[in-house]
Amino acid sequence: MNIAAPQASALQDDSIEQPLLSVRSLTRYYGTRIGCADISFDIWPGEVLAIVGESGSGKTTLLNCISTRLPPTSGTVSYSMRDGVLHDLFKLREADRRFLLRTDWGFVHQNPADGLRMAASAGANVGERLMAVGDRHYGHIRETAIDWLDRVEIDAGRIDDQPRAFSGGMRQRLQIARNLVTAPRLVFMDEPTGGLDVSVQARLLDLLRGLVNDLGLAVIIVTHDLAVARLLSHRMIVMKDGRVVEQGLTDRLLDDPQAPYTQLLVSSILQG
Ligand SMILES: Nc1ncnc2c1ncn2[C@@H]1O[C@H](COP(=O)(O)OP(=O)(O)OP(=O)(O)O)[C@@H](O)[C@H]1O
Ligand SMILES: [Mg+2]
Repeated sequence: MNIAAPQASALQDDSIEQPLLSVRSLTRYYGTRIGCADISFDIWPGEVLAIVGESGSGKTTLLNCISTRLPPTSGTVSYSMRDGVLHDLFKLREADRRFLLRTDWGFVHQNPADGLRMAASAGANVGERLMAVGDRHYGHIRETAIDWLDRVEIDAGRIDDQPRAFSGGMRQRLQIARNLVTAPRLVFMDEPTGGLDVSVQARLLDLLRGLVNDLGLAVIIVTHDLAVARLLSHRMIVMKDGRVVEQGLTDRLLDDPQAPYTQLLVSSILQG
């Protein structure tokens, strides 16, 4: 694949002085087994960060800890709330944490069934998130839902259908609409194209790339696919056995990998 990684305009913006999210020495054990260990990085508004590594390297553990779905064993995660102050996420009141999850953040699961209400209509799946941020006007909610179905290339005529009547690709696009409708500032994605076949993956990636660019979203995306990282991310973290082996700008890292493990990953992709 010969497409340059997207440029992060936010990175060059001097007005941004503070990261959106700051991770320090984050460690999670499962009993005596390492899930992830001593992970530190920052993510800035509008930046797309890819976390890559082989199966079992700790990507999901890290993502779940950052997004407060899993308590870390040690380390901190701070987030710049709308008051402009960095807050330690694990010291937030439960109500504030839930508010973040419902409004300021999105979480796109690999399996759409984990992120959708399968027995509610497509329109309700999108509308529910709007209601969580206080929209009470039925007409407006429906109008916005139709607009978002259109943005993710789902026919408006399907608005009253349940996602269980959708194909895998449509479900994933609906999950994306549900997550983005509240204009979150940070979206977590765990292998969002993982369960889909190759042609569907390519279209979905294209769509995601467009939406992320248009909305200026910050995204932390977990993938084992370097082509996905190349297409979507500005910066990458490479993990192995729960630890970071290399991190840096995506173009630099993929064109000139430094760590032997990254070199191996990159060369095996080129051969494949
Ligand atoms: N619930 C759990 N209980 C015990 N060990 C776990 C649990 N979840 C993950 N682990 C272990 O933590 C390590 C990291 O797993 P994790 O699921 O984070 O990897 P991953 O990079 O997401 O892998 P994959 O690409 O297969 O999804 C592995 O050794 C795994 O066996
Ligand atoms: Mg995983």
